[in-house]
Amino acid sequence: MRPVRVRRSTLPYQHTFGLGGSSLTLIGLMVFTGVLLMLAYEPSPERAYDSVIGLQDQFLFGGLVRNIHHWSANLLVAVVLLHLLRVLFTGGFHGPRRFNWVLGLGLLAGILAANFTGYLLPWDQLAFWAVTICTGMFGYVPWIGEWLQGMARGGTEVGSATLVIFYTFHTTLVPVTLVLLMAFHFWRVRKAGGVVDPRPPEEIVEEKPDYVSTLPELLMRELAAALALIAFVVVLSVFVNAPLGAPANPGMSTNPAKAPWYFVGFQELQLHFHPLIAVVVIPALVALALLAIPYLRYPRELSGPWFLSDTGRRTAVLAAAVGLAVTPVLILLDELVLQPGAGLPSLAWRGLVPLVLMGAAVFGFRGLLIKKFGASKGEVVQAVFVLFLIVLAVLTVTGVWFRGPGMALVWPWG
Ligand code: HEM
Repeated sequence: MRPVRVRRSTLPYQHTFGLGGSSLTLIGLMVFTGVLLMLAYEPSPERAYDSVIGLQDQFLFGGLVRNIHHWSANLLVAVVLLHLLRVLFTGGFHGPRRFNWVLGLGLLAGILAANFTGYLLPWDQLAFWAVTICTGMFGYVPWIGEWLQGMARGGTEVGSATLVIFYTFHTTLVPVTLVLLMAFHFWRVRKAGGVVDPRPPEEIVEEKPDYVSTLPELLMRELAAALALIAFVVVLSVFVNAPLGAPANPGMSTNPAKAPWYFVGFQELQLHFHPLIAVVVIPALVALALLAIPYLRYPRELSGPWFLSDTGRRTAVLAAAVGLAVTPVLILLDELVLQPGAGLPSLAWRGLVPLVLMGAAVFGFRGLLIKKFGASKGEVVQAVFVLFLIVLAVLTVTGVWFRGPGMALVWPWG
């Protein structure tokens, strides 16, 4: 799976933080604990919740196994996103690594699908209503929305057919796809001669590149990182239980009813935009933009050091500061000033107009980066990415901690 020899310069931990290997480790933990969970779990609305309670009460270490599965799954989303950021910020998606970026996005989609399909299985209130909301979002897709929602739910409502569909995807189709994609991903890393060199391309002028053998140099380091991560997950799982709410009650919704944390940013968008824009147009644009990143024809393919260059570092910090300052202001403005006077819930006023205004603002920001900082295309792409990343992070934090009953804005401490 790994190249036979790797460049010595790629070995330092702070170059990759072992995030790709950590993703693999977490997936390994999930497969192992997932198979154990399958021995006790029963995928029917009548039995699912009780089988989870029974698993915790009647099986030796049953609760611990469930906790490890739960925390690995949540950590995996975070770690894989950090891995994506590492690749982006070191320009590891150019040349022979281009297609591996696309494979990586496939892996990210698979991991989100694995988390989401697993979310329903405990059949508690949290799960039932989060899945009702998220599958309800499919309904906004033009023309095929109703059909898509029916396919995901196996009917008009979330019920026993939904549970069987989610269980099948969660325990067979999604993990098998992930394993196949991972094998392809690792092979592509190997084909590209290992990970990108941390030095800027113009500094790599050795006559004889300094190679070391992967075994033991790289594998021992990866093994040490994996063991530390496993220890962390096990200790976390000993002390913090995976949540389990009251049994699902299709007749009484939780209030607020929130999507899982990794989708809350998009749920928050729904409070500010027309649903078609929030649930279909913006996510589709984000996916397209991510897919396009390696194929944008860069005059200079910057790669190697973190944040590409000094200009890359400064423009990324500026983008983060702008995102941090502007997003909360826009949320409050929409909530306190525009919303009450509403009467404007049309596709134009809560959709196209703000979308065009924001597009123009991003275009202006791009102009500023080029004019004031002399940023190259790679540095502009990185800065705009950081801007959107911070916007999504602020939306997610707002949705998770600052939304209470009726999704009204509240202070997290009550
Ligand atoms: C299950 C999820 C994933 C696993 C197990 C995984 C694993 C790995 C590993 C082990 C490496 C070698 C270096 C490192 O550890 O950083 C790597 C490199 C890479 N990954 Fe991933 N990855 C995953 C998801 C992703 C995602 C979401 C993306 C981005 C969209 C991505 C894009 C890349 C690229 C382009 C490289 C080559 C980068 C370079 O040469 O510097 N991967 N991945």
